[in-house]
Amino acid sequence: MRIAFLPGDGIGTEVIRAAVKVLDSAGAGFGFSYTSEWFDLGAERYLRTGETMPDREFEHLRDGFDCILLGAFGDPRVPSNIHAKDILLGLRQRLDLYVNLRPVRLVDPRLCPLRDAEVGMIDMAIVRENTESVYVGIGGRFKPGTADEVAQNVMLSTRKGCDRLLRYAFDLARERRGRLVLCDKANAIEAAHGLWRVALRDLARQYPDVTATALYADVAAMRMVTHPREFDVVVGDNMIGDILSDLAAALVGGLGLAPSASTHPGRVSLYEPVHGSAPDIAGKGVANPLAAILSLAMLLRDQGHARAAAEIDAACAAAVVERACTPDLGGGLSTDEVASWVAARIRPGAPQSQR
Ligand code: NAD
Ligand code: IPM
Ligand code: MN
Repeated sequence: MRIAFLPGDGIGTEVIRAAVKVLDSAGAGFGFSYTSEWFDLGAERYLRTGETMPDREFEHLRDGFDCILLGAFGDPRVPSNIHAKDILLGLRQRLDLYVNLRPVRLVDPRLCPLRDAEVGMIDMAIVRENTESVYVGIGGRFKPGTADEVAQNVMLSTRKGCDRLLRYAFDLARERRGRLVLCDKANAIEAAHGLWRVALRDLARQYPDVTATALYADVAAMRMVTHPREFDVVVGDNMIGDILSDLAAALVGGLGLAPSASTHPGRVSLYEPVHGSAPDIAGKGVANPLAAILSLAMLLRDQGHARAAAEIDAACAAAVVERACTPDLGGGLSTDEVASWVAARIRPGAPQSQR
């Protein structure tokens, strides 16, 4: 297994260091090995050299690795966010990582802001389209800085893009509870989101065992709060999926617990916490590393290490329940202490049911 580490900016570096500690513990416990390389990409490098994602490094990432573990990109010193656009959105785009899978599960009712929460009450998989919509970067500014300024971003949907993402989501729904909901604004965004509904209707015929519906995204946001149990597989375009994934994360403990995978079957895949570089807490040692560690578990599962992945998931859940966690989850540990706790908890021999 060849892994590229892209820690990035702010807390990205802190949480990736923590995740690697857990990776090494899992490797020792489950007997797998890996080779790796750390990439110096991010705001520091950009400010130093003006480079964001040089072609040779992109090609090395594309050709030299099985998977990428990424922290976060974003730095107040780079207000244009150009480096994040080139690196993060650039990788998703150029590697054509069309699936962004963001699983959300309630493991500790204490962390849910809703009344009468129970373990497992919230258990959904957000399947976000990761290469299209308003993220394609088509558009620009005309007469900038004048009273006549015009700003435009094109929202783009392709039939191929809708079909391939929906197919992935339908297959996933089959393995889960058999329910899929497409969230869009087809009432207002008639063309780009209307196409999603057409694609959903056509594909649903091939999946009679899956209950497929479409909801307007504003109503979906409301129902996620009022009726979270209804949601199983949630599909959204790039922008809707981005917004709903932070909302869903907030229902189970926040961004510090939200992992994600950006994939395209057969290509190098990218694993990344949903959260950003959190400049407000960077450098303080309090960033919650669990989102990055759970992203590592997704990586290991996809790389064929399902038992190690399940063990890491279980250790993270235990850290939350036993309050071996950072202040955002009500604990008193530092980033590195949480990583050490999770790393030490990984016990390959013990069946998970005994804990
Ligand atoms: P953010 O996710 O960085 O932070 C939002 C809030 O959540 C902050 O209060 C932060 O302290 C808290 N938070 C986030 N992750 C946490 C963690 N692991 N532990 C504890 N608390 C955590 O979002 P933002 O503040 O809007 O964005 C900051 C920068 O990150 C921006 O430049 C943004 O563009 C970028 N960003 C990058 C990514 C990415 O690289 N995948 C994702 C989102 C935002
Ligand atoms: C995410 C982030 C990014 C996105 C930003 C940093 C461009 O919010 O990964 O969820 O919108 O995709
Ligand atoms: Mn986001």
